[in-house]
Amino acid sequence: MTVRIGMIGGGMIARVHAKAIAETGGRIVAVFDAVQTKAQSFAEEVGCEIEGSLEGLLRRDDVDAVVIAVPNDEHAPTAIASIEHGKHVLLEKPMATSLDACDAVLAARDNSDRILQLGFVCRYAPASVAARRLIADGAIGSIHHVRATLLRQRGIPGLGGWFTQKTRSGGGCLIDIGVHLIDLVQFLTEPGRAKRASGHCSSLFGGDSYVYDDMWSEPHPGGVFDVEDSIRATVHFASGLRLDLDVAWATHLPEGVVSDGIVLQGDLGAMSLDIWGDELLLGWAEEGRPERRVESIDVSDAWDDAFVGEHRAFAEAIDTRQQPVAGGEAGRSVQAIVEAIYESDRRKKEVAIVN
Ligand SMILES: NC(=O)c1ccc[n+]([C@@H]2O[C@H](COP(=O)([O-])OP(=O)(O)OC[C@H]3O[C@@H](n4cnc5c(N)ncnc54)[C@H](O)[C@@H]3O)[C@@H](O)[C@H]2O)c1
Repeated sequence: MTVRIGMIGGGMIARVHAKAIAETGGRIVAVFDAVQTKAQSFAEEVGCEIEGSLEGLLRRDDVDAVVIAVPNDEHAPTAIASIEHGKHVLLEKPMATSLDACDAVLAARDNSDRILQLGFVCRYAPASVAARRLIADGAIGSIHHVRATLLRQRGIPGLGGWFTQKTRSGGGCLIDIGVHLIDLVQFLTEPGRAKRASGHCSSLFGGDSYVYDDMWSEPHPGGVFDVEDSIRATVHFASGLRLDLDVAWATHLPEGVVSDGIVLQGDLGAMSLDIWGDELLLGWAEEGRPERRVESIDVSDAWDDAFVGEHRAFAEAIDTRQQPVAGGEAGRSVQAIVEAIYESDRRKKEVAIVN
């Protein structure tokens, strides 16, 4: 089945989606971007039509589904409009910039028979897929502690643009990249409801001395920077799992010193996972003696593989009319944790998570 896609937003991530859509047999029919020149360059690169308005794109009969790749504050209204026009939706992370907005998206989905999938692409990285299988098979038993880390050296996206402006983004590195880790940990460990969170946010690097170094999106000199560029947080779940998060857009650590990774500790064993890597490290005990094993994973390009996996899952969900595992509830539960961490930072104490 060829999924005929309308692309909403023709920026950086839209190009990554375009490649994966082509590889999975889908077709981008048309693009709408609020900035006409962005739509033009995207359309030229991809070979699709341009629509001059969101309404125009959503009214097309030859569009089955949309990929929403616009700034975070536009996620919820765009997703709701798309669903109400009968389109299936692949919505980039984060689901929205507030829990209320997540609920509005869920209500729109529930009033329709449309598919809503969230762009939690790390789930489909080959290492994550292998880790999920091993964990589900009981390789490390019941998991009580996870440490999840994502530390860039100079990785503030579009400093001064929408990414670093709280009213548009909803926050900084936590809502931008921390959400991937929170989702992945919940996906891998199925820890039940998140109950309490504490967190501390800092803005250490986003000032005038920040030197742009080939990051995702170029800086906007003189723009707004009113979000965190690093967070440390702890989240407790109903299963007893404790998650320690360490996330930063910018540090003094050279790239690659600490991989984008998750260390999971269970009662039968432990596992270390580099999301973009090609192996998993497992440790356990044999009659009390410590053992270790490296599990090799077949990876060509983990980033590309992950987006291909995401689009395969989306096409399958549309085909079978089954809401995907990375659906609206997953997006909402991540947002609840994000909001609790921000609230804890403001109040300087641990807070209960409202679900
Ligand atoms: N899954 C991932 O790993 C990943 C990576 C990067 C970005 N993202 C997410 O993708 C989204 C887009 O990020 P990006 O890096 O491509 O940003 P970007 O700034 O490069 O692109 C966003 C585009 O949306 C356009 N736009 C703004 N408002 C619009 C509207 N209302 N309707 C249509 N177009 C509009 C802008 O003109 C721009 O071209 C964000 O939500 C971001 O969090 C996800």
